Amino acid sequence: MSKVTVVGAGNVGATCANVLVTQGIADEVVLIDIKEGLSEGKAMDIMQTANILNLDTRLTGVTNDYEKTAGSDVVVITSGIPRKPGMTREELIGVNAGIVKSVTDNVLKYSPNAIIVCVSNPMDTMTYLIHKTSGLPKNRIIGMGGALDSARFKYFLSVALGANPNEIEGIVIGGHGDTTMIPLVRYAAYRGIPASTLMPAEQLEKVAADTMVGGATLTKLLGTSAWYAPGAAAAQVVGAVIGDQKKLISCSALLEGEYGEKDLCIGVPCILGKNGIEKIVEFDLNEEEKELFRKSAEAVHKTNSALSC
Ligand code: NAI
Ligand code: 2OP
Repeated sequence: MSKVTVVGAGNVGATCANVLVTQGIADEVVLIDIKEGLSEGKAMDIMQTANILNLDTRLTGVTNDYEKTAGSDVVVITSGIPRKPGMTREELIGVNAGIVKSVTDNVLKYSPNAIIVCVSNPMDTMTYLIHKTSGLPKNRIIGMGGALDSARFKYFLSVALGANPNEIEGIVIGGHGDTTMIPLVRYAAYRGIPASTLMPAEQLEKVAADTMVGGATLTKLLGTSAWYAPGAAAAQVVGAVIGDQKKLISCSALLEGEYGEKDLCIGVPCILGKNGIEKIVEFDLNEEEKELFRKSAEAVHKTNSALSC
């Protein structure tokens, strides 16, 4: 029996819970929020699709009652405030750090063996905060950002190529920020054929640029930050852990010398399985990519310095 808790029943959390249920990723899902009635309402609405969609997963919503989350295998943290138009992810740090810290303490009280998936922004810094304050081993703390950014990269590549997104390969590493993420264009491919041989260099550069501002573009269009792809990307990470899938997914992980960096969490290719981050895979970066990664790490360190832990 697998059990997953999703903290925060807002846009991203409820979407993540919906994907976990509709795809049957876990046997049991608990959705928890501080706002009275919100998670109960969203859970009830989702569960009313069960008969229509022939679903087996049991989803319950609770208001701030962590006892109900006891024994979770994976906990997804989406609680916090989202971006508004014109805001960067980094500007959320003050409010979200307090929320993420107290939520982590609460979930670990009842699920001491859980693997934590952090979604709240600024995600790399919130993931680092959990490392600094929870005492958990590094494999059990996964930051979700690269899974989303890579999905956006593959989407923009598929549009440019007029191809099916499922036949595209692409990965984004670095910080989960508009200027810090690094779409690895050299590794982008369509059915194994390098994307660089299938479109002009300027078009590929535009795909990378659109990916980097992918979140900001949606925030401008929607008036708040996106939720369908973020929620689905978080569920993808949960699925890789629950299913012990050994999938390679870009996640924010604590580095201890990998990619020449240490003492920060930042997006790198990770093998995910039942133990969480089972391996960090070191891609062979060229000098230009190494320099981009170094600068990205510098920016993430700078944001981390605003933490008081
Ligand atoms: P939202 O405002 O729709 O939902 C946030 C929910 O958290 C609210 O329902 C609120 O009541 C709840 N909450 C606040 N404090 C809480 C606490 N102490 N305990 C439990 N619940 C609490 O926001 P949305 O759009 O769902 O975004 C959530 C977070 O995820 C934001 O920080 C956003 O920036 C981030 N995000 C991260 C992405 C990523 O790729 N890492 C992608 C998209 C959003
Ligand atoms: C996103 O990438 C804002 O992190 C959020 O949509």
